[in-house]
Amino acid sequence: MPDLFLGGLFLLSKVNAYLTGDNQVVIPGADSYNGLNVVPQMGWDNWNAYGCDVSEDLLLSTAQAMIDYGLRDLGYNYIVLDDCWSIGRNSSGYQVANPIKFPHGMRNVADRLHSLGFKFGMYSSAGAYTCGNYPGSLGYETQDAQFFADNNVDYLKYDNCYNQGQSGTAEISFNRYNTMSQALNATGRSIVYSLCNWGEDQTYNWATGISNSGRMSGDIYDFFNRPDSRCPCTESPCEYPGYRCSVMNIIGKMAAIQSKTQKGWFNDMDMLEIGNGGQDDNEYVTHFSMWSLLSSPLLIGTNVRDLSPEGLTIYSNPAVIALNQDPTGTAAYRVWLKQCDDKDKYGQCNYQLWVREMQNGDFVLALINNGNSNANLTADLYDIFLDQSTSGASKPAAQLSEKWEVYDLWGNRMSNRTAAAIINRANGDSGSNVTDFSFAYNSSDISYAKGIETNNSALFGSKVGIIPPHGSWSAEIPRHSTGLYRIRQI
Ligand code: GLA
Repeated sequence: MPDLFLGGLFLLSKVNAYLTGDNQVVIPGADSYNGLNVVPQMGWDNWNAYGCDVSEDLLLSTAQAMIDYGLRDLGYNYIVLDDCWSIGRNSSGYQVANPIKFPHGMRNVADRLHSLGFKFGMYSSAGAYTCGNYPGSLGYETQDAQFFADNNVDYLKYDNCYNQGQSGTAEISFNRYNTMSQALNATGRSIVYSLCNWGEDQTYNWATGISNSGRMSGDIYDFFNRPDSRCPCTESPCEYPGYRCSVMNIIGKMAAIQSKTQKGWFNDMDMLEIGNGGQDDNEYVTHFSMWSLLSSPLLIGTNVRDLSPEGLTIYSNPAVIALNQDPTGTAAYRVWLKQCDDKDKYGQCNYQLWVREMQNGDFVLALINNGNSNANLTADLYDIFLDQSTSGASKPAAQLSEKWEVYDLWGNRMSNRTAAAIINRANGDSGSNVTDFSFAYNSSDISYAKGIETNNSALFGSKVGIIPPHGSWSAEIPRHSTGLYRIRQI
């Protein structure tokens, strides 16, 4: 892609550095454009489970459930109110929150969430209307940014519906989203800015200097790999983002753009579906593993109070979350995708290897089985360290001659029994057996970065073997599941 001139800014697409109007060089990759969200945001958003059925009770009772289930302390600390909260604008052009859904007003909701230890996110669209046909912010950026700041909002999800044709090139989309970026900055309040334009006009090429994350696909739906004509692309860039995108569809799109993810700016793969019932446990394990490894925001998208023990054990795996919160802020890359014969009912069969280098020098491998039956998959050190070899692949990487310990990051998954005890206790069932009740990890006590640095055992799963020099790692991966391994040089 050639360098672009965008509304007074030179955007140097290769290095992502740009020059502001007053000649300041900004290098977004150094941190983040506003100093916020250096690692991916975590939290909950109501949309996947509740759609427009929003209220202050929903937000506050979910927040309480997240505390009771140990999710807040695992780092899920944004409560994001999605679409359908407004009833219109007042005579000064400011939005008015629906008083039936939010009888105490938005600021009261924000303050109560803050007192529970959460941050508060809200939603609007860079269009005339939101996707649910409520007032959008296009042309009202200043008033709406001030509304969010006045209501102590900490996070804005900013959608793309009814954009009045203001899209089609990177420059047009950049200008539209930059207007809100500048309006938010002008309020003086620290507000994480999360774009939701579905990857249109290749968000990841122009949004890193004006925002904290950007959706890279059309809307997720709760299917593992079912193709749907309304989500036609399986690779990025994608002309028509569409909707009804499956987990494997979104993972596939990341292969081409993973290098655009960087510390402080994240490709947002959309909200999590775990708990909503459309996938089996193995499929949800793949969903959570890959969202973590690819440094997507982790926004729980289910009814937390009704979460099953199995669902809780997925959301509560600190060894997997630690990948997502790794200070590198980078995303795994796909080393190979191999077609296979045993196709499932959607005609799919492939195996994939993804690799990522972590801050402490460990590497992580994900072996995905997107086939119809269990399969023995192998990653050899040559594949894992292809990018570490010099002179192309002709001079083998030094890592090939080393020995590596292998940690299965799902090996120490919380038991269903413990998860059930946590849920029962949270729901006031004093008769339940709570003897093995214990939360998974408290990231406010020990950050994930510190935990990794100090080899906290909660963050390493279980040790399952060794890869000898020039060797390989093989594992039986269940149908539609993912083997997720952290390997450390001995
Ligand atoms: C779009 C977004 C979703 C959600 C809805 C709300 O579809 O992509 O994530 O915010 O709008 O209407």
